[in-house]
Amino acid sequence: MTPAGGEAPPLLRLRSVTKVFPSERGPVTALSDISFDVEEGEFVCLVGTSGCGKSTILTLVAGLLEASDGRAWLAESEILGPGPDRGLVFQRDNLFPWLTVTENVRFGLTLSANRSRDPAEVKALQERADGLIKAVGLDAFRDALPDQLSGGMRQRAAIARALVLRPRLLLMDEPFGALDAQTRERMQAMLLDLSQSQGTTVLFVTHDVEEAVLLADRIVVMHAHPGRVVDQIIVDIPRPRHVRMKLDPAFARIRGRVLDMLHASETEEESVA
Ligand SMILES: Nc1ncnc2c1ncn2[C@@H]1O[C@H](COP(=O)(O)OP(=O)(O)O)[C@@H](O)[C@H]1O
Ligand SMILES: [Mg+2]
Repeated sequence: MTPAGGEAPPLLRLRSVTKVFPSERGPVTALSDISFDVEEGEFVCLVGTSGCGKSTILTLVAGLLEASDGRAWLAESEILGPGPDRGLVFQRDNLFPWLTVTENVRFGLTLSANRSRDPAEVKALQERADGLIKAVGLDAFRDALPDQLSGGMRQRAAIARALVLRPRLLLMDEPFGALDAQTRERMQAMLLDLSQSQGTTVLFVTHDVEEAVLLADRIVVMHAHPGRVVDQIIVDIPRPRHVRMKLDPAFARIRGRVLDMLHASETEEESVA
Protein backbone atom coordinates (compact mmCIF):
# COMPACT_ATOMS: atom_id res chain seq x y z
CA MET A 1 0.00 0.00 0.00
CA THR A 2 3.05 2.27 0.25
CA PRO A 3 2.72 4.81 -2.56
CA ALA A 4 5.51 5.21 -5.10
CA GLY A 5 8.30 7.28 -3.59
CA GLY A 6 7.68 5.53 -0.26
CA GLU A 7 6.27 7.05 2.91
CA ALA A 8 7.71 6.56 6.36
CA PRO A 9 6.48 3.36 8.03
CA PRO A 10 3.91 3.84 10.81
CA LEU A 11 5.34 4.70 14.20
CA LEU A 12 3.09 2.15 15.93
CA ARG A 13 1.85 -1.00 14.29
CA LEU A 14 -0.45 -3.59 15.87
CA ARG A 15 -1.13 -6.81 14.01
CA SER A 16 -3.72 -9.41 15.03
CA VAL A 17 -3.24 -8.70 18.70
CA THR A 18 -5.31 -10.90 20.97
CA LYS A 19 -5.40 -10.85 24.75
CA VAL A 20 -7.08 -13.51 26.82
CA PHE A 21 -7.27 -13.15 30.61
CA PRO A 22 -7.92 -16.13 32.84
CA SER A 23 -10.89 -15.71 35.17
CA GLU A 24 -12.91 -17.83 37.57
CA ARG A 25 -15.60 -18.27 34.92
CA GLY A 26 -13.09 -19.30 32.28
CA PRO A 27 -10.90 -17.31 29.90
CA VAL A 28 -12.04 -13.77 28.96
CA THR A 29 -11.09 -12.55 25.49
CA ALA A 30 -10.39 -8.87 26.23
CA LEU A 31 -8.98 -8.22 22.75
CA SER A 32 -9.63 -10.15 19.58
CA ASP A 33 -7.53 -9.70 16.45
CA ILE A 34 -6.68 -6.02 16.89
CA SER A 35 -4.83 -4.42 13.98
CA PHE A 36 -4.24 -0.72 13.44
CA ASP A 37 -1.41 1.75 12.90
CA VAL A 38 -0.50 5.15 14.28
CA GLU A 39 1.52 7.34 11.96
CA GLU A 40 4.31 9.58 13.16
CA GLY A 41 2.81 12.90 14.34
CA GLU A 42 -0.72 11.56 14.31
CA PHE A 43 -3.29 11.93 17.12
CA VAL A 44 -5.36 8.76 17.34
CA CYS A 45 -8.27 8.24 19.74
CA LEU A 46 -9.61 4.86 20.80
CA VAL A 47 -13.31 5.03 21.67
CA GLY A 48 -15.71 2.38 22.89
CA THR A 49 -17.85 1.42 25.84
CA SER A 50 -16.38 0.43 29.15
CA GLY A 51 -14.85 -3.03 28.99
CA CYS A 52 -14.11 -3.05 25.24
CA GLY A 53 -10.36 -3.31 25.88
CA LYS A 54 -9.11 0.27 25.47
CA SER A 55 -6.92 0.20 28.58
CA THR A 56 -5.68 -3.27 27.70
CA ILE A 57 -4.44 -1.96 24.34
CA LEU A 58 -2.63 0.93 26.02
CA THR A 59 -1.06 -1.36 28.61
CA LEU A 60 0.16 -3.70 25.86
CA VAL A 61 1.63 -0.80 23.86
CA ALA A 62 3.27 0.47 27.06
CA GLY A 63 4.94 -2.93 27.31
CA LEU A 64 3.46 -3.62 30.74
CA LEU A 65 1.41 -6.57 29.52
CA GLU A 66 2.13 -9.34 27.01
CA ALA A 67 -0.24 -10.22 24.16
CA SER A 68 -1.63 -13.75 24.02
CA ASP A 69 -1.21 -13.66 20.26
CA GLY A 70 -0.22 -11.17 17.57
CA ARG A 71 2.57 -8.60 17.65
CA ALA A 72 3.16 -4.86 18.05
CA TRP A 73 6.02 -2.69 16.86
CA LEU A 74 7.14 0.81 17.77
CA ALA A 75 9.39 2.43 15.17
CA GLU A 76 9.89 -1.03 13.69
CA SER A 77 11.16 -2.56 16.94
CA GLU A 78 8.91 -5.19 18.42
CA ILE A 79 7.40 -4.08 21.74
CA LEU A 80 8.74 -6.53 24.33
CA GLY A 81 8.70 -4.37 27.48
CA PRO A 82 8.41 -0.81 28.78
CA GLY A 83 10.79 1.95 27.72
CA PRO A 84 11.39 5.72 27.78
CA ASP A 85 10.21 5.93 24.14
CA ARG A 86 6.64 5.82 25.53
CA GLY A 87 5.18 8.38 27.96
CA LEU A 88 2.15 7.44 30.03
CA VAL A 89 -0.69 9.52 31.48
CA PHE A 90 -3.58 7.88 33.31
CA GLN A 91 -6.93 9.14 34.64
CA ARG A 92 -5.45 9.39 38.12
CA ASP A 93 -2.18 11.24 38.09
CA ASN A 94 0.57 9.22 39.71
CA LEU A 95 2.62 12.14 40.96
CA PHE A 96 4.76 11.60 44.04
CA PRO A 97 2.97 13.50 46.82
CA TRP A 98 6.22 14.40 48.60
CA LEU A 99 7.82 16.02 45.54
CA THR A 100 7.10 19.49 44.13
CA VAL A 101 5.86 20.01 40.58
CA THR A 102 9.41 20.65 39.37
CA GLU A 103 10.77 17.62 41.20
CA ASN A 104 7.99 15.42 39.85
CA VAL A 105 8.55 16.56 36.28
CA ARG A 106 12.29 16.12 36.65
CA PHE A 107 11.93 12.71 38.27
CA GLY A 108 12.44 10.73 35.07
CA LEU A 109 15.57 12.77 34.40
CA THR A 110 17.01 11.96 37.81
CA LEU A 111 16.79 8.26 37.04
CA SER A 112 18.48 8.69 33.67
CA ALA A 113 21.04 11.14 35.03
CA ASN A 114 22.17 8.55 37.58
CA ARG A 115 23.27 6.41 34.69
CA SER A 116 26.22 8.79 34.22
CA ARG A 117 24.79 11.06 31.61
CA ASP A 118 26.75 13.90 30.12
CA PRO A 119 26.21 16.96 32.42
CA ALA A 120 25.48 19.15 29.40
CA GLU A 121 22.75 16.74 28.42
CA VAL A 122 21.32 16.70 31.95
CA LYS A 123 21.24 20.50 31.92
CA ALA A 124 19.46 20.52 28.56
CA LEU A 125 16.89 18.05 29.92
CA GLN A 126 16.36 20.17 33.04
CA GLU A 127 15.73 23.16 30.81
CA ARG A 128 13.30 21.05 28.84
CA ALA A 129 11.51 20.16 32.11
CA ASP A 130 11.25 23.86 32.99
CA GLY A 131 9.97 24.66 29.49
CA LEU A 132 7.31 21.98 29.73
CA ILE A 133 6.15 23.23 33.15
CA LYS A 134 5.63 26.59 31.48
CA ALA A 135 3.96 25.06 28.44
CA VAL A 136 1.35 23.31 30.60
CA GLY A 137 0.67 26.56 32.48
CA LEU A 138 2.20 25.64 35.84
CA ASP A 139 4.99 28.19 35.98
CA ALA A 140 3.53 29.85 39.07
CA PHE A 141 3.13 26.47 40.82
CA ARG A 142 6.51 24.90 40.18
CA ASP A 143 7.29 24.67 43.92
CA ALA A 144 3.83 23.47 44.96
CA LEU A 145 3.17 19.94 46.22
CA PRO A 146 0.51 17.85 44.43
CA ASP A 147 -2.05 18.17 47.24
CA GLN A 148 -1.87 21.97 46.90
CA LEU A 149 -3.04 21.69 43.29
CA SER A 150 -6.45 21.15 41.65
CA GLY A 151 -7.15 17.94 39.72
CA GLY A 152 -6.58 19.71 36.41
CA MET A 153 -3.25 21.13 37.56
CA ARG A 154 -2.08 17.72 38.73
CA GLN A 155 -2.88 16.29 35.31
CA ARG A 156 -0.91 19.14 33.70
CA ALA A 157 2.10 18.16 35.80
CA ALA A 158 1.61 14.49 34.89
CA ILE A 159 1.56 15.41 31.19
CA ALA A 160 4.74 17.48 31.52
CA ARG A 161 6.43 14.59 33.30
CA ALA A 162 5.37 12.13 30.61
CA LEU A 163 6.84 14.37 27.90
CA VAL A 164 10.14 15.25 29.52
CA LEU A 165 12.20 12.44 28.04
CA ARG A 166 10.82 13.16 24.57
CA PRO A 167 8.86 9.94 24.13
CA ARG A 168 8.16 8.88 20.56
CA LEU A 169 4.59 8.11 21.60
CA LEU A 170 2.39 9.58 24.34
CA LEU A 171 -0.16 7.10 25.72
CA MET A 172 -3.12 8.68 27.52
CA ASP A 173 -5.88 6.67 29.24
CA GLU A 174 -8.93 8.87 29.91
CA PRO A 175 -6.64 11.55 31.33
CA PHE A 176 -9.46 14.08 31.75
CA GLY A 177 -12.14 11.57 32.80
CA ALA A 178 -12.20 12.67 36.44
CA LEU A 179 -12.32 16.44 35.77
CA ASP A 180 -15.35 18.73 35.71
CA ALA A 181 -16.64 19.82 32.30
CA GLN A 182 -15.05 23.28 32.32
CA THR A 183 -11.64 22.09 33.46
CA ARG A 184 -11.83 19.27 30.97
CA GLU A 185 -12.37 21.74 28.12
CA ARG A 186 -9.41 23.84 29.23
CA MET A 187 -7.26 20.71 29.36
CA GLN A 188 -8.37 19.73 25.86
CA ALA A 189 -7.35 23.17 24.57
CA MET A 190 -3.97 22.86 26.32
CA LEU A 191 -3.36 19.39 24.91
CA LEU A 192 -4.22 20.58 21.39
CA ASP A 193 -1.63 23.36 21.69
CA LEU A 194 0.95 21.15 23.34
CA SER A 195 0.74 18.19 20.95
CA GLN A 196 1.01 20.63 18.06
CA SER A 197 3.96 22.59 19.43
CA GLN A 198 5.83 19.44 20.57
CA GLY A 199 4.88 17.47 17.44
CA THR A 200 3.96 14.56 19.72
CA THR A 201 2.35 11.39 18.42
CA VAL A 202 -0.54 10.50 20.72
CA LEU A 203 -2.66 7.42 21.33
CA PHE A 204 -5.54 8.66 23.50
CA VAL A 205 -8.28 6.61 25.13
CA THR A 206 -11.66 8.14 25.89
CA HIS A 207 -15.30 7.12 25.99
CA ASP A 208 -16.28 10.75 25.33
CA VAL A 209 -17.02 10.98 21.60
CA GLU A 210 -16.99 14.78 21.59
CA GLU A 211 -13.51 14.78 23.09
CA ALA A 212 -12.32 12.26 20.50
CA VAL A 213 -13.61 14.33 17.56
CA LEU A 214 -12.02 17.50 18.93
CA LEU A 215 -8.59 15.95 19.46
CA ALA A 216 -8.14 13.20 16.90
CA ASP A 217 -6.88 12.94 13.36
CA ARG A 218 -8.37 9.47 13.34
CA ILE A 219 -10.80 7.64 15.63
CA VAL A 220 -10.55 3.88 16.12
CA VAL A 221 -14.01 2.65 17.14
CA MET A 222 -14.19 -0.47 19.28
CA HIS A 223 -16.93 -2.87 20.30
CA ALA A 224 -16.89 -5.15 23.35
CA HIS A 225 -17.29 -8.89 24.01
CA PRO A 226 -14.81 -9.53 22.59
CA GLY A 227 -12.94 -6.24 22.33
CA ARG A 228 -12.41 -5.53 18.65
CA VAL A 229 -11.93 -2.71 16.17
CA VAL A 230 -15.05 -2.15 14.08
CA ASP A 231 -14.09 0.94 12.12
CA GLN A 232 -11.70 3.84 11.80
CA ILE A 233 -12.97 7.33 11.09
CA ILE A 234 -10.80 10.12 9.72
CA VAL A 235 -11.53 13.46 11.39
CA ASP A 236 -10.95 15.88 8.54
CA ILE A 237 -11.58 19.03 10.59
CA PRO A 238 -8.72 21.45 9.89
CA ARG A 239 -6.03 22.33 12.45
CA PRO A 240 -5.39 24.33 14.50
CA ARG A 241 -8.48 23.12 16.36
CA HIS A 242 -10.35 25.12 18.99
CA VAL A 243 -12.97 24.00 21.50
CA ARG A 244 -15.44 26.36 19.75
CA MET A 245 -15.29 24.02 16.74
CA LYS A 246 -17.54 21.66 18.68
CA LEU A 247 -20.38 23.89 17.43
CA ASP A 248 -19.52 23.43 13.73
CA PRO A 249 -21.83 21.32 11.52
CA ALA A 250 -18.83 19.28 10.29
CA PHE A 251 -18.06 18.44 13.91
CA ALA A 252 -21.64 17.31 14.60
CA ARG A 253 -21.62 15.14 11.48
CA ILE A 254 -18.52 13.20 12.50
CA ARG A 255 -19.74 12.92 16.08
CA GLY A 256 -23.02 11.47 14.75
CA ARG A 257 -21.16 8.87 12.68
CA VAL A 258 -19.10 7.72 15.65
CA LEU A 259 -22.17 7.59 17.92
CA ASP A 260 -24.10 5.54 15.33
CA MET A 261 -21.25 3.10 15.19
CA LEU A 262 -21.09 2.80 18.98
CA HIS A 263 -24.85 2.35 19.29
CA ALA A 264 -24.79 -0.35 16.64
CA SER A 265 -22.65 -2.24 19.12
CA GLU A 266 -25.15 -1.81 21.95
CA THR A 267 -28.00 -3.10 19.81
CA GLU A 268 -25.92 -6.11 18.77
CA GLU A 269 -25.09 -6.88 22.37
CA GLU A 270 -28.71 -6.54 23.46
CA SER A 271 -29.82 -8.94 20.76
CA VAL A 272 -27.11 -11.39 21.82
CA ALA A 273 -28.14 -11.17 25.48
N1 LIG B 1 -5.98 -8.04 34.61
C1 LIG B 1 -7.15 -8.51 34.15
N2 LIG B 1 -7.62 -9.72 34.49
C2 LIG B 1 -8.78 -10.19 34.02
N3 LIG B 1 -9.58 -9.51 33.18
C3 LIG B 1 -9.19 -8.29 32.81
C4 LIG B 1 -7.96 -7.71 33.26
N4 LIG B 1 -7.83 -6.47 32.71
C5 LIG B 1 -8.92 -6.29 31.96
N5 LIG B 1 -9.74 -7.38 32.00
C6 LIG B 1 -11.00 -7.55 31.27
O1 LIG B 1 -10.75 -7.24 29.93
C7 LIG B 1 -11.83 -6.50 29.35
C8 LIG B 1 -11.29 -5.16 28.84
O2 LIG B 1 -10.92 -4.33 29.93
P1 LIG B 1 -10.31 -2.86 29.75
O3 LIG B 1 -9.18 -2.93 28.79
O4 LIG B 1 -10.04 -2.35 31.10
O5 LIG B 1 -11.53 -2.08 29.06
P2 LIG B 1 -11.78 -0.50 28.91
O6 LIG B 1 -10.52 0.21 29.23
O7 LIG B 1 -12.21 -0.33 27.48
O8 LIG B 1 -12.90 -0.17 29.84
C9 LIG B 1 -12.87 -6.37 30.44
O9 LIG B 1 -13.79 -7.42 30.27
C10 LIG B 1 -12.07 -6.56 31.71
O10 LIG B 1 -12.87 -7.09 32.73
MG1 LIG C 1 -10.14 1.67 30.69
